[in-house]
Order: sequence, then structure tokens, then C-alpha cells
Amino acid sequence: MKPLGLHEIRSAFLDYFEQNEHLALPSFSLVPQGDKSLLLIGAGMAPMKKFFTGEAEPPAHRVCTSQKCIRTGDIENVGKTDRHATFFEMLGNFSFGDYFKREAIHWAWGFLTDVLEIDPNLLWATVYLDDDEAYAIWNEEIGLPKERIVRLGKDDNFWELAVGPSGPCSEIYFDRGEKHGCGDPDCKPGCDCDRYIEVWNLVFTQFDKDEEGEYHPLSNPNIDTGMGLERIASVLQDANNIFEIDAIHAILEDICAMADYEYGTDKKKDESVRVITDHIRAITFMISDSIVPSNEGRGYVERRLTRRAAKHGRNLGIEGAFLYKLCESVIDSWKVQYKELDDNREVIARVILREEERFLKT
Ligand code: SER
Repeated sequence: MKPLGLHEIRSAFLDYFEQNEHLALPSFSLVPQGDKSLLLIGAGMAPMKKFFTGEAEPPAHRVCTSQKCIRTGDIENVGKTDRHATFFEMLGNFSFGDYFKREAIHWAWGFLTDVLEIDPNLLWATVYLDDDEAYAIWNEEIGLPKERIVRLGKDDNFWELAVGPSGPCSEIYFDRGEKHGCGDPDCKPGCDCDRYIEVWNLVFTQFDKDEEGEYHPLSNPNIDTGMGLERIASVLQDANNIFEIDAIHAILEDICAMADYEYGTDKKKDESVRVITDHIRAITFMISDSIVPSNEGRGYVERRLTRRAAKHGRNLGIEGAFLYKLCESVIDSWKVQYKELDDNREVIARVILREEERFLKT
């Protein structure tokens, strides 16, 4: 396994798909454009729905991205657990009426085993219940033994948003070993324990779901794949959680330095450090995409994250505003891929400072 850094994995992914004739697009904004069904972008395919349905012509029929994403369903759990996060990056390759299952599976396998050099014996695949075609590609072409291919139902292996492109999927899991497992001899992907972690979701986008929940077949079958960058980085770096990943850990260390605190010495304080580590990435990227604190919609999400992070700064004994300085660490690290962060550096710091000051007054 190649012990690559977070930023290196992202470039390796985009390079690999460019070599396979994909157009690497910059990330779309976190703000959905012309799509009232979403508050924030939370998946690589979300800003490209119109390319899947044929409503708009894509710039190329093979595209790859590293998409900025925010999911806010679990804000209250961020920090409490090692696993929850609001901001993450999703790596994806997409086919708009071009290649389908065979290429998507072969390329995913090639990237994981040839480029990242993950031991193939530690990888498993799942397929949708009756998807014999995907099953045969995994088994006969990739050579994955039948024992490591699991058929799962709609809850696990069908991907959809509230409305729009959707379809059955095939997921790739990494086996972290028995020590992370539940001990059940039948433990395999689909089990609730931490042994098998999903690293890549290959969606065979065949339907367009309407507001009534009806599925309409798309004229062209498409591919939408999504691999959480932090997830694959934690596999390669043998990290137990996202906070141990190189670039993210560097932010955590900057917070500890500001608070003059040694991580791992106090449970409550560790939680605060984790909350700030997560939230500072989210708010830096949100403001860079022009989401400013307000009392409704996206602005309210931003305000909530800033205030929550500020409150946890207090728990750490940090006096006064500090997030407006900490955002520099995020910008300096992530600007390698997201140039807009550097371009918006001053605005980001100013907006954060204003909100921190408002919060400190209350
Ligand atoms: N849309 C799928 C997901 O978000 C694959 O990209 O997991």
C-alpha cells in the first residue's frame, strides 16, 4: 500500500482518470446552481444532474472531479465520535452516455490495486441483488472470488437523492482486519461493525426519479462513482479516524498549539479539538463559495458551524477570536487543489472574524 498524503491521493486519482481520457473539472461550488431540491452539494454527482438526464450537454462524456461536499445531517455527532464530519471531498469519475459497468469496475480496481497498491486480497465488492452482470464482471473478469462478492438490497446498493438520477450500485470495501470486527464468523460487508469499510461507490445510473418517487429509465446509461477522499486516505495511512490523516492532523495540531493543549489528555477537550478541526474546514470552504452567516438556509448552517466551533474554543480556554486565524492553515494546505481559497483569503478571514465577534458579544 502506498502511504500517500491526502493531497497526493487526490492528484493521483485525477491523473489516473485523465490518462483514461477523462476531463478533470475543477470542483463545483458548494452552492447548488439552479437546483432547489438541495441546500448544499453533498455528492460528486449532485452538481451534474443535468448532464445525466440529458437536459444539458456536458463539456465531455468522461469527466472526473474532486468535489467539495458538506453533509449536515449529523452535526451534533461531530467531535463526539471519530467518524462524523461535515466537510469532505468526494473523488468521482463520471460517464454521460459513454462507458458503463465494465469500464467503471475495471478502472476502480486498477486505481486501488495498481496505483494505490492496495492488497487485492483485502478488497470485497457488493452488487445489487439481481445484478448478475456486475457480479460476473467482478468474478470472471477481475477474478474476485465468489466469497468476496456480496449481494445487498436497496438500502445498501441503490443510490438516489430526493429527485434526479439514480440507480443500482456496486460498492468496494476494504477489510481492516479481525481486530476491528465483531467476531461473528459470518461478518462481511453489510455488517454494522467497523471491520469492512466502504471505500468506493460505483453507481450505474439508469433512472431519473421524479418528485412523486417514480423511476423513469434514462435514454443513456451513465456512471457516477464516488470515493470519499478522507476515507481512502485513512485506509492508506492506516489511520483509525479522519483526525489522524496527515493534512487534517496538521489542523488539529495547530488548534492544540493555539490552546496550549496536548491532544489525548482530556476527553472533553479532545472532543472540542475535533469539532473545531472539522468545522474550520467547512466554514473556510463555505465562505470561499460566498456562503455568509445568516439566519436562514445555507447561511444559517454556516453560522451554526462557526458559533459551535467558537464555543468549543472557549472550552479549550482560547481567549477571544481565533477561527479567523486558523482558517489560514486550511487555506495554505488545501489551496493546492482549490485555488479559490487563496484568492478569497482576506474575505474568508474577515467574515469569520465578524461572526466570532458577534458570538463573543452574546
Ligand atoms: N452518488 C454516489 C455517492 O454519493 C456515488 O458518487 O455515493
